[in-house]
Amino acid sequence: MAARSRTGSVRRPALLAFLLFACAGCGGCNSDPDAYPNSFVYPPRQDWIVLELPKNVPNQPEAAGELDEAIQRINERGGKVRNPEDVPESLHDQLNGHLRKSFGTPAEPEFADDHESKILANELGLSPEHLATGSKLFRKHCQQCHGVNGNGRGQTAPWITPHPRDFRQGAFKFVSTNATGPRKPTRDDLFFTLTNGLPGTQMPRFKLRSEEERQRLIDYVIYLSVRGRTEFEILRTLLVHGEPGLNADLASDAKEITRNELRAWQKANNDVMPAIKPTFAENSPAVAESIVRGHTLFLDQKGAACVTCHMNYGRDTKLQYDVWGTLIKPGDLTDARRKGGTAPEQLYRRIHGGIGPSNMPAAIALSESQTWDVVHFLQALPYPDRLPEDVKKRVYSGR
Ligand code: HEC
Ligand code: HEC
Repeated sequence: MAARSRTGSVRRPALLAFLLFACAGCGGCNSDPDAYPNSFVYPPRQDWIVLELPKNVPNQPEAAGELDEAIQRINERGGKVRNPEDVPESLHDQLNGHLRKSFGTPAEPEFADDHESKILANELGLSPEHLATGSKLFRKHCQQCHGVNGNGRGQTAPWITPHPRDFRQGAFKFVSTNATGPRKPTRDDLFFTLTNGLPGTQMPRFKLRSEEERQRLIDYVIYLSVRGRTEFEILRTLLVHGEPGLNADLASDAKEITRNELRAWQKANNDVMPAIKPTFAENSPAVAESIVRGHTLFLDQKGAACVTCHMNYGRDTKLQYDVWGTLIKPGDLTDARRKGGTAPEQLYRRIHGGIGPSNMPAAIALSESQTWDVVHFLQALPYPDRLPEDVKKRVYSGR
């Protein structure tokens, strides 16, 4: 748990008794009940770091309430996970000191200490004012699931599957950016996720929050992700190679990671994957023909081979590991809900770009028109009456 220091939060002793009374139960001593106490710092990472996923995948979901225990078992299953406590204490202290200096606290989140990061952050709209507002909103609406530092380990997290997202690897699933390079979501992607939630999971929709509030929440998610990724990369290097693995000293390496992350976020907004929908006249036979081709590609081992994971159209699937070391099931594609949206362009980008963190590969072998065929098939799949007769029989026979 987070170390919570009370020192420094009460400046005028005369107010002490009053404040202690007024603050009972609110967890902090700021006048603003939504704000974090000034003395509160981000807890350092304690959960284990996944270095290598096992080939051996359990065929049962992990027991409810298990998250970190399950990740630690990866070692027994032939993968590799390491405890951050194995990093020597002096280096740990250096890292925590650096993070504190460069990223501030939950009450005062900021990009400090490095001129270039500050400029990049400001260009992304991640000003200290925006982040402070985002932090308060996050505390109120997100922290119980995503954790104070975006570690995906809020109080409810172990009981929720899929678990709330850990933002600290900088990895996101529902992105519309190009398939190559570090795939960050655009602001619009995150806005879509916040507005619509992730249907079929516990991630709620925040449609009723104002647009302004949703934007501040996005700022803060990006900030937590950059901060978390900086911590993650340094710990990973130290666990794998020890101090000699650093290029220069810890602080310079950390600054470089932060800048690269910020650059990747910046790049994303101008790197949206083109997806130009072919136009067919409504109810023209061309649509049905495209669905038939898409269905064939879906099943064909030499085509898209979607069926290797989405067996029986996703009704009977096996668990697989994601990059966080947790288990995920390939989607049931006969269910009309899609986490990343149902618009044809969204489906096109999902297929062509894959879902990297869930280890769903990008279907780059498919041509543009073949990808649209698969999109047309997917759009019709949950609705038997929209499928051409032969395909309908194949998908829904006996049901
Ligand atoms: C009740 C728990 C819960 C709450 C509250 C919650 N989330 Fe989530 N969130 C989730 C879960 C679960 C997932 C992951 C679902 C998955 O991976 O399929 C998720 C995923 C996400 C993602 C990742 C999307 C992607 O493309 O990978 C973002 C961003 C996100 N949440 C932001 C927020 C923000 C911001 C808030 C507060 C305004 C919030 N969440 C509140 C449970 C929650
Ligand atoms: C290696 C396994 C694998 C292959 C091959 C694969 N998928 Fe997936 N797919 C997954 C996993 C895992 C998920 C669940 C991702 C998540 O929710 O985190 C998924 C989810 C999806 C989703 C749901 C996305 C959403 O927004 O909810 C669609 C649509 C999809 N896959 C389509 C396809 C298509 C079409 C193909 C073939 C071109 C394909 N998949 C090939 C593993 C795979």
